[in-house]
Amino acid sequence: MIGYCCIACAKTQAADFDGFVCPACGNNLDIIYDYAAAAAAFTQKLGSQPVDIFDYAELLPVVTESAFPLRIGATPLYAATALGEFLGLTNLYLKDESGNPSASIKDRASAIAVQRAIDTGADIVATASTGNAGSSLACLSAALGVRAVVFVPETAPAAKLTQLLSYGARVLAVRGSYDDCFDLCMTACEEFGWFNRNTGHNPFTREGKKTCAYEIWRAFGGELPDRIVVATGDGNIISGIWKGCRDLQAAGLAARLPRIDAAQSVDSAAISHSVHRLREARSDTTDWTGVEVDKVAADTIADSIAVDEPRDGLAAVRAVIESGGEAVTVPDAEILDAIPLMSRLAGVFPEPAAAAALAAVKRMRASGTIDATERVVCVVTGNGLKDTGSAARAAGHPTVIEPRIESVRTLLPRILS
Ligand SMILES: Cc1ncc(COP(=O)(O)O)c(C=O)c1O
Ligand SMILES: [Zn+2]
Repeated sequence: MIGYCCIACAKTQAADFDGFVCPACGNNLDIIYDYAAAAAAFTQKLGSQPVDIFDYAELLPVVTESAFPLRIGATPLYAATALGEFLGLTNLYLKDESGNPSASIKDRASAIAVQRAIDTGADIVATASTGNAGSSLACLSAALGVRAVVFVPETAPAAKLTQLLSYGARVLAVRGSYDDCFDLCMTACEEFGWFNRNTGHNPFTREGKKTCAYEIWRAFGGELPDRIVVATGDGNIISGIWKGCRDLQAAGLAARLPRIDAAQSVDSAAISHSVHRLREARSDTTDWTGVEVDKVAADTIADSIAVDEPRDGLAAVRAVIESGGEAVTVPDAEILDAIPLMSRLAGVFPEPAAAAALAAVKRMRASGTIDATERVVCVVTGNGLKDTGSAARAAGHPTVIEPRIESVRTLLPRILS
């Protein structure tokens, strides 16, 4: 790590900078590295099996001296042949993040952020969360021996709240939205001196999530796919994945960059609105100073992507525009339908936000935006068990029977149909 670079005004800071955001304009920061030094080490990894995100130590901002207590990353990339066939795609892949310790991609960010907190001497780490960032912080804090304080909307799905409590976090269930939680966590961290893991605001979160792109590159033998489709709320996952791709390019390891597509709910679409507005208004998209990102009043069943004011919004908008990707919005009904679709045709059970990415793939294929042979990676950002209430709405009901074989016989035509 050699320093920081502002997402908006490109002003740089040295590696010993101890703030989180750009002192010149207040926007979020990217971390920059000595890419030439990483190139050879990354090429060597191509022939070996992935272990975890610390395989990519050369391009990470933290150092782990002993073995990390949990396995973060090294998640599978599945060829989703039957699902692809159904959608008219011959090269569809699912990057299944549900096998991370707390069952979402957020563990990549929390691992790096908690390690950074420990490196800077903090023993309390706080975050605002729709549920996953918090349960992930709680999980990593438990494993690494620091205390976690999590601000979460009281309406978060029960499984996420239960995860948070089980891992031993101090859970503050806020009577308000995720955006209220975010602002409250900012104030609390300032007042009480806690290490702030807030998504996007903390530059180390994007650095964790970018490892997902490195793994995709490695799984394809040192190439990036044509598209990566990502469910988007704050915009930190999508900008992290784009950062990973750009790191690989900077190190001379990726000849071609993918398009990065944002999948949002129609009713929580701040980043999509911004992308469309900026694409219409701007011919020159290289100067991002002062560029504003839209705000909305979010309302979607996909709680993880229900965001009024995206906290990594500019970085996300840049990811879509600079990569030539799409910003796709899908209604809640299509998000719900995508849960059993992915589950039945690929054996991967997504939470609603993760299903939104598949719903976006379906739309883009139906409209001809994606060609049949494009290599498309849909990131399954969180596990379906995190919100079974929503999944149940699309899954149907079991058939209740008496414990007698006659009942099965009677139902046989229906069972086998
Ligand atoms: C499962 C899942 N998918 C997608 C997202 C959206 O990520 P971001 O807010 O960084 O855009 C989240 C964030 O909470 C999530 O938990
Ligand atoms: Zn700046």
